[in-house]
Amino acid sequence: MINTPKTTHSEWSSRFAFILAATGSAVGLGNIWKFPYITGQNGGGAFVLVYLGCVLALGIPIMIAEIMLGRRGHLSPVNSMQSLAIEAGADSRWRYLGWLGMIAGFLILAYYSVIAGWSMAYISKAFFGSFFSSDASDIKNLFDDLMQSPIQQIFWHTVFMLITLQVVMRGVKGGLEKAVQLLMPALFFILLILVGYAMTSGAYNEGIKFLFSPDFSKINANAVLTAMGHAFFTLSLGMGSIMVYGSYLPKHISIAKTTFVIAGADTIVALLAGIAIFPLVFANQLEVGSGPGLIFQTLPLAFGKMGGGWLFGVLFFVLLFLAALTSSISLIEPTIAWLEESHQWDRKKACIWAGSGCWLLGIAVVFSFNIWSGHKLFDKNLFELLDYLTANLMLPLGGLAIAWFAGRIMKTRDSAQELEMPESDYKIWQFLIQYVSPAAVFLVFLHVLGVF
Ligand code: PHE
Repeated sequence: MINTPKTTHSEWSSRFAFILAATGSAVGLGNIWKFPYITGQNGGGAFVLVYLGCVLALGIPIMIAEIMLGRRGHLSPVNSMQSLAIEAGADSRWRYLGWLGMIAGFLILAYYSVIAGWSMAYISKAFFGSFFSSDASDIKNLFDDLMQSPIQQIFWHTVFMLITLQVVMRGVKGGLEKAVQLLMPALFFILLILVGYAMTSGAYNEGIKFLFSPDFSKINANAVLTAMGHAFFTLSLGMGSIMVYGSYLPKHISIAKTTFVIAGADTIVALLAGIAIFPLVFANQLEVGSGPGLIFQTLPLAFGKMGGGWLFGVLFFVLLFLAALTSSISLIEPTIAWLEESHQWDRKKACIWAGSGCWLLGIAVVFSFNIWSGHKLFDKNLFELLDYLTANLMLPLGGLAIAWFAGRIMKTRDSAQELEMPESDYKIWQFLIQYVSPAAVFLVFLHVLGVF
């Protein structure tokens, strides 16, 4: 039998601090960069509806479960899962769920850092006025130049990774908490300004119609899988980020209420990003399905033309970078916490090793946008492959296992004690986690495999 380490980590200073940190983890590139482009690729309204359904039926109950497991286990995901399994009289190999999560976080961070690097490159472009008097084709060229330059991308990816590690090294209170306090309100504010601009840009109705009027003929099995995977990705679920943050959560705080705040804020930010972007896409006859470059090819057009565009442009990309930062720290935290506990490494050593591995893989991701763009496996380049593997497969599988454990392995007495919900709410949660969540994930997988 394996010993469970007894390391004690520090705790969040308040409920609000936890909400900020978990919202910081949830709100990131997923909301502002990924949600609009996958919505564009998957035909709009129907996709958005499936995504919202997944947030409600899967995301919220699983987030409650994941935070609960973290707080009760009070250790890194690997060790929390092991000690909870022992507590429940189950197989201690449940710790491999923690491993799956650490690997997923590692793979996601490798490409996340590259994309966050693009946002940093765009801070400098905005600052030096590259968006002024540009039309859609100039802005597209600007983005293509960045894609064709491994040096620029590696440079920004490296800077981003170094900053992430700096924050993570400072630990929970010093680094993570401070980083998110101002950012969320500021991001919200600037998104509202962009929405205001989109309303006056001319194609507002067309943009809104694309986002909110569902046409189910545009949706196929893969779109459903992408929507489900994105619900996990955007809420940081299924890989231990929210679990490890939960392990720093003091006992008396209501997990369910907190979850609604986090998931609500995350969803609003994504929808606002969509509302800001699609009217610009249509007003400028851009391609809705143009992929990962979508926000980089649309928003600069607005900044180039609107009053105060220089300021808002710089501010927007700074905020996007910060939103990415508060997510990236949570991607690596499960690994760092585990290295601290199980190998008695200090945070610094853990950050250097884990960070270097991610950084190297990130370089290969950079190449997948240029010199290796022709190298494909299953018709996907490395970036697409990592994204598909993590968001569409590993996170839903991790989420399924979390739901299974919380609903079927853990003793009802223990989960009820940890959640402290009114009886009727607890019953609803338990039903969702025992039946609805596992069935939904399972059915989507079967659908993708073509079983029905
Ligand atoms: N939720 C983050 C985003 O939307 C990404 C993320 C995924 C962070 C998984 C942590 C864990 O950008």
